[in-house]
Amino acid sequence: MIKIRVPATSANLGPGFDCLGLALDVWNEITFAPAEKLTHHVIGEGAEKLNRGTRNLLTKAYAHLHDVCGRPLKRAAIEAHNMIPMSSGLGSSAAAIAAGLFGANEMLGQPMNMEGLLKLAADMEGHPDNVAPALLGGLVVSVTNQEEIITRRYEIPALTIVIVKPNIEWPTKTARAVLPKSVSRADAIYNIGRAALVVDALRCGDLGLLQKVMEDRIHQSYRLRHISGGMAAYKCAKQFGAAALSGAGPSIIVFLPPEDAGKASAEIRSIFEERGIETKGIITTPSEKGAHCI
Ligand code: HSE
Repeated sequence: MIKIRVPATSANLGPGFDCLGLALDVWNEITFAPAEKLTHHVIGEGAEKLNRGTRNLLTKAYAHLHDVCGRPLKRAAIEAHNMIPMSSGLGSSAAAIAAGLFGANEMLGQPMNMEGLLKLAADMEGHPDNVAPALLGGLVVSVTNQEEIITRRYEIPALTIVIVKPNIEWPTKTARAVLPKSVSRADAIYNIGRAALVVDALRCGDLGLLQKVMEDRIHQSYRLRHISGGMAAYKCAKQFGAAALSGAGPSIIVFLPPEDAGKASAEIRSIFEERGIETKGIITTPSEKGAHCI
């Protein structure tokens, strides 16, 4: 039997659309126990939805790794204790893919290296920015070329992070469909320089710099206008620190001084709640670790 943990991740981090991602100290814990049948059972976040059907990303990824390695399927009872909220912009689908691939690789005696796992995961997810930190941990910059995912991983200081997740239906597919097909040169330049500075600000733990440069012109405003209370919540978060839409949203993420975390969380949540939208608040820090056995 093996037991693994896979972290939540926040992608984009403002200007780093589809390229930057950060692992967070929020975990799904999954056990794989040899069994007569391949089964999957979830406790915690998403349990009701995930236990309803037999198809899910984690078992799909688990079976996919066996196929790719040309190995017969090792049947297992998979039990997941999930802490990562689904459809929230916190990388729950990347965590499911990473868990299925990483778990299968462990069950088979590690036929594949991390580079191979990352390529498979990015192909399944469609972009690497969540799966890379889910597997590697830390802050990860990733770019895709035809045959490989090129990554650099950085460890960053233990910054305080507040995340507010409104309970809103906001599928990633919709969040990508609302984006313009092309961007202007001015907006591209605006984002390129800031994305580079976000990496430096996070590596140095420089909250002042992060607050100045965690701005974006190519995805956030197009998305926030469709999320009820989204723009107001984002503006409120910016008063406390360096804020962004987490991944494709709808969660808002803000890096801020630890003493402000409780107040910031309460104020951002109240903006959604005044509109009758339930919220979940999470106070966390970056995680150096990605998927690992426990
Ligand atoms: N970079 C992706 C997006 C993350 O913003 O659409 C969500 O999967």
